[in-house]
Amino acid sequence: MGDDAAEAAQIGKHYDERSPIGDEFRDGQLHMWYWYDREDRVSLANAVARITRKVTDTLGLRPEESVLDAGCGPGTTAISMAERFGARVTGITVSRFEVERAIARAGASTVGDLVDFEYGDFMDLEYPDGSFDAVLALESLQNAPDLTQVLAELYRVLRPGGRISMSDFSLEQAGPPERLARFMETLRLSRLPSLTEWIGHLRAAGFDVEEYTQCGPRVLGRKAKYIEAALVRRQEIADKFGEAALNEFAEQHHGFFAPRRNQVGYVILSARKPYR
Ligand SMILES: C[S@@+](CC[C@H](N)C(=O)[O-])C[C@H]1O[C@@H](n2cnc3c(N)ncnc32)[C@H](O)[C@@H]1O
Repeated sequence: MGDDAAEAAQIGKHYDERSPIGDEFRDGQLHMWYWYDREDRVSLANAVARITRKVTDTLGLRPEESVLDAGCGPGTTAISMAERFGARVTGITVSRFEVERAIARAGASTVGDLVDFEYGDFMDLEYPDGSFDAVLALESLQNAPDLTQVLAELYRVLRPGGRISMSDFSLEQAGPPERLARFMETLRLSRLPSLTEWIGHLRAAGFDVEEYTQCGPRVLGRKAKYIEAALVRRQEIADKFGEAALNEFAEQHHGFFAPRRNQVGYVILSARKPYR
């Protein structure tokens, strides 16, 4: 196995272990949530769906456009792009569990003919140049071993004028480095760029950056809302997966809330491959 394939297999194992319970808690969206304030009472699945909508809305998708969902998780995000916009979506992930779950989810949806899921490494894509109108990287670039390489691949498979939207964590305010290190280790982040650095990475890959947002205070800043909402479903999930598995899941996420308030942000960026 080459270095890239070995790295992809390790990341896949990380998600194979965490995705089943994460999938249940977040309805197939393995990403962050968004709560407006303490009085905001929406469920965890709905708070997570807000991020799905916010990020995918920035792609400006039209019916029949082709989208690569690079690091697709267990499928709900790709299915929602097909349902909401009539787009044709190809989802890839390095987690075998997620591929299976996404295929089953698509089969139970009304848009099974618009979505496809397969095992694939976004560091080395098999698609020809210019294959897609749009690319989504929703909280997946964080796991790329080399940002320059993955962004070059995503740029290559987009048509001229095609769009990319991404969301991810960002380094915001200074704070205890050991807390940041625990957070990064828990999530297997190999780097934590600031918003300015994320913009710089996209520009260095050749993209024109068109939109960006930092909404960390409503994302990681709402950890109390997450705990409140997760507790609502705790017993139901313990009954399904077992106490031991749920405790292990909680243990695996130990460092997630380690950073100080506003130490880590959450950014959404949208960019375009220039027209010829
Ligand atoms: C935090 S999850 C986000 C999942 C999904 N985008 C969502 O919003 O539900 C990160 C995803 O990136 C995928 N991923 C990580 N490294 C990858 C790689 N080299 N190639 C393809 N997918 C990768 C993981 O398997 C996982 O599905």
